[in-house]
Amino acid sequence: MTKEKGKYYITTPIYYPSSNLHVGHTYCTVMADAMARFKRLSGYDVWFLTGTDEHGQKIQKIAIEEGVSPQAHVDGIVEGIKKLWAMMEISYDDFIRTTEDRHKRRVQEIFRRINNAGDIYRGIYEGWYCTPCESFWTDTQLVDGKCPDCGRPVEKARETAYFFRLSKYADRLLELFENNPGFLEPETRRNEMVQFIKQGLEDLCISRSSFNWGIQVPIEEDQVIYVWLDALSNYITALGYPVVDGVSGEDDLYKKFWPADVHLVGKEIVRFHTIIWPAMLLSMNEPLPKKVLGHGWLLLEGGKMSKSKGNVIDPVKLIERYGVDALKYFLLREYTFGQDGLFTNEALLGRINGDLANDLGNLLSRTIGMADKYTDGIIEAPAGAYGEGPGKAFDTDLKAIAVSVAGKVEAFLDEFAFNRALEEIWVLVRRSNKYIDENAPWVLAKDETQKARLGEVLYNLAESLRIVSVLIQPFMHHSSDEIRLQLGIVQDEILWDDASRFAVTSVYRTAKGPALFPRLDVEKEMEALAELNPAGAESAD
Ligand code: MSP
Repeated sequence: MTKEKGKYYITTPIYYPSSNLHVGHTYCTVMADAMARFKRLSGYDVWFLTGTDEHGQKIQKIAIEEGVSPQAHVDGIVEGIKKLWAMMEISYDDFIRTTEDRHKRRVQEIFRRINNAGDIYRGIYEGWYCTPCESFWTDTQLVDGKCPDCGRPVEKARETAYFFRLSKYADRLLELFENNPGFLEPETRRNEMVQFIKQGLEDLCISRSSFNWGIQVPIEEDQVIYVWLDALSNYITALGYPVVDGVSGEDDLYKKFWPADVHLVGKEIVRFHTIIWPAMLLSMNEPLPKKVLGHGWLLLEGGKMSKSKGNVIDPVKLIERYGVDALKYFLLREYTFGQDGLFTNEALLGRINGDLANDLGNLLSRTIGMADKYTDGIIEAPAGAYGEGPGKAFDTDLKAIAVSVAGKVEAFLDEFAFNRALEEIWVLVRRSNKYIDENAPWVLAKDETQKARLGEVLYNLAESLRIVSVLIQPFMHHSSDEIRLQLGIVQDEILWDDASRFAVTSVYRTAKGPALFPRLDVEKEMEALAELNPAGAESAD
């Protein structure tokens, strides 16, 4: 049995429901989902949180343009987001909406606590404001007079507001980065943050009075809490912290799961998560998250995929056409964590046809097909040692690879190197295909004296496939299930530890099933995708 290894709390950013999500957003959620599934499978008690960040001027503006209330606007979008996650079978344990009462009441209490700690004061805010990014910038932060994040024009804004004494925490934040090198990864981001703090931290404006779509400041009616204090708090309000009278749910989850093991975030919001968020927690005297991981962006030839630019890839269309496993595999295999990557339809089709149809799909269909044809679908564990024929070296090699992949996958997943982890699994998939060619079962089948060897070859292939089915389970569980179904494995619970053991099953009774990933006609698909996802075809010239 897998051992209980302790708790694991992982979060995604909470997404803005300004409009539907694109494949760039699904990238982060798919990584978090794969990690949550992997940790559960290897014996951790996991809590996986995602949600939506629903307040702010931008949402209010969109709602006005649409002629609906902000709440009606976000309700519609959030329904779509939840449908998308259901379609992608994202295994979150909780979905927090910042418009929920449980969140609003707790954020007000967080405001009070920070205020009681003497870290909030009332003042006049004057600065450059970028509406699409909902960010204030100082003169020095602007790039050519424009927003440093998105390059769009900024407006001068001046108003009475509340401030959080962020500057007070500069030294403790520097200490945090120095004493905990693992707090923020990749390392390049860590250096950026240290530089940012060393340049001098300004106090942070945490309320606004120029719009009202937000959580009311508990000590002044006309102000709403500015978006980052509201948004960042989601990671603890969802766990029931702080306890507030009249809001159901105690902080048992908080006691159990906080601090978070990983906040997975895109690179442009690393700053908020590693400076503002720890400072808020320090002010409340609460533990800090163990790790913030900043991932890169999915880009199109024309730049960053972005809702406001309209050049987005719709994940729903990809899932409808190729299935959820193919999309998840592609996102996890194609990109290197921490770096930006280019999304193209060609790359997607290349992965589906190459890795999935040719390598994995073929391995399954060849193995099951041969078992069907030569042994009536019965594959038994060999009885005792078989002779010392030339095939033995192939067996030894195959088995050595098969039982060592799980350890490598674990090591790569520790670094969130999903691409490297999948690459390792495919070493076994490809080795198994080669093993078929080396042993030529179709030749063995013609020779009555080779019957035992044929059985052994098929058994080794079935065992490799069983191991593959465990290894891919966190990333593509439909394919994992289908492999197990076709192999005839009857086992309620998949155990990660079984991936590093060979010769676990005594007998397989195979059942031929559909191809895992039918081969695609690339030319035809490129045309279809150019219509479905025009933005992804930009680089196909
Ligand atoms: N609401 C804030 C986050 C608050 S977390 C306390 C926000 N929302 S967002 O919807 O704009 O972005 C959410 C996440 O999606 C960010 O981590 C961002 O990096 C990610 N992505 C948005 N476009 C992306 C790509 N094109 N590629 C990869 N990730 C992308 O920021």
